[in-house]
Amino acid sequence: MSSSKPNMNNIEDVRKSLDSKTLRVCVIGIGRIGLPTALSFAKSGLQTIGVDINENLVQNINSGKFPLKDEPGYNEIFDDVIKNKKFFATTNIEDAVPNSDLLLLSLPTPMDENNIPNYSALRNVATKLSEILSPNSLIIVESTIEPGFIEDEMVSIISKSGRLEIEKNFFIGVCPENANPGEILHDFTNLPRLVGGINHNITKIIKEIYKFVFSVELVEMPDCKTANAVKLTTNVFRDINIAFVSELSLMFDKLGIDTIKVLEAAKKKYNFQVHYPGSGVGGPCLPINSYQLINTAKRTGSKLNIIEWGRKINEKMPEHVVKLTSDAFTMCNKPIQNSKILILGVSYKPNVKDIQLAPAEKIIKKLQNLGAKIYVYDPYFVSNEVFGITTENDIEKIIPKVDAAIIVTAHDEFKKLKLSIFSQTFQSILIDTRGIIDPAEAKKEKLIFRGLGRGD
Ligand SMILES: NC(=O)c1ccc[n+]([C@@H]2O[C@H](COP(=O)([O-])OP(=O)(O)OC[C@H]3O[C@@H](n4cnc5c(N)ncnc54)[C@H](O)[C@@H]3O)[C@@H](O)[C@H]2O)c1
Repeated sequence: MSSSKPNMNNIEDVRKSLDSKTLRVCVIGIGRIGLPTALSFAKSGLQTIGVDINENLVQNINSGKFPLKDEPGYNEIFDDVIKNKKFFATTNIEDAVPNSDLLLLSLPTPMDENNIPNYSALRNVATKLSEILSPNSLIIVESTIEPGFIEDEMVSIISKSGRLEIEKNFFIGVCPENANPGEILHDFTNLPRLVGGINHNITKIIKEIYKFVFSVELVEMPDCKTANAVKLTTNVFRDINIAFVSELSLMFDKLGIDTIKVLEAAKKKYNFQVHYPGSGVGGPCLPINSYQLINTAKRTGSKLNIIEWGRKINEKMPEHVVKLTSDAFTMCNKPIQNSKILILGVSYKPNVKDIQLAPAEKIIKKLQNLGAKIYVYDPYFVSNEVFGITTENDIEKIIPKVDAAIIVTAHDEFKKLKLSIFSQTFQSILIDTRGIIDPAEAKKEKLIFRGLGRGD
């Protein structure tokens, strides 16, 4: 061990290395979450390396190109830490890891086509760490994992080479990431973080480190698995509640009840936490997190019926959007076949550039199967190739050319649209899947309007 290396099991050592800013940080996986994390550590004055297998990303970062343009505030931090040489990126894990004291893992935890969680990135990196981690280092897993993954898998993979023994010469804990894409700086400076270590001392040490970088409440968890259980519970709660209101909205529609009016009134009750119906739930978190807990249930011989049903409902919503669209075409005696339909928004959530598991993809495929020609406008994907379609660059030019438009993502730009833009063409069809258009206003403009769950 070099004389400058702190023993990461010793809180005094860690404190000293923070105060003297000699603690060497390595963030493995510098994507949507890992890069802002690495930049925050570098901004606090700690020398930080970002490791990633994506050569383009690494090259861009090192040549000063910030890849996350939709993350307000981080561009400036990026310029600053690159200029001050506090941060650089590399693809060379062999060089980076042995020269680091603190390893943060922000690796992807996606799922496969059968909805089975895929932890191969974490497993691969853990195997590498077992070979090259320098003794007395601390690993913090920020990725979203199932409760028990650290205790049951990561520790034994890292110990595999026989060089390292948990709680003797390597240490591990978790601090699950809970930031929202598009608001990461805000969330990193406001949202409480969960901290769980392999033992109580490590929990305290992780708290000490995060306190140095982030000015947020750090919630001490009894262990790693409880911290990961909390992370999954909060996200799955949202997935289930969105399914609940989406299913309700299908029935309210038949009753001529506007679901948005129901929810706006319901949320006045002190213990009602509002969620909104929509065209489906996508993104790198909610759907996967539900399947992670379903997987945990399988592993433990348990059953999580509500989560399974929630997933089924949310996965059916794109089909309902297609039905609303077909109904609107029938209402005005137009065939959907050979029609031109504009999809407004492909991101899985408003105001971010991210199409992971976005419901827009299923909607587009289903409409194409019905013979419609699909156009896409999304302010975050202008003149891009998305789901095999070249996206439009001018919303005002494309709207008059199509038979129907479907609002799939509630980007702010769409909230500001004047409805008169849609009524320029004879019998325009507008479908709103996100409750952002007032049905009464749409009627005033004489649009053929269908709002998801709006009872119109
Ligand atoms: N994006 C979100 O909204 C969000 C929010 C909270 C938590 N999370 C969780 O954070 C974790 C990271 O998610 P993300 O959205 O930042 O993913 P991402 O795909 O944006 O970034 C992951 C990065 O890891 C890199 N990578 C993959 N395998 C690697 C390997 N073997 N070695 C080095 N680098 C490797 C990829 O190239 C990529 O740049 C996931 O567990 C996710 O569930 C994500």
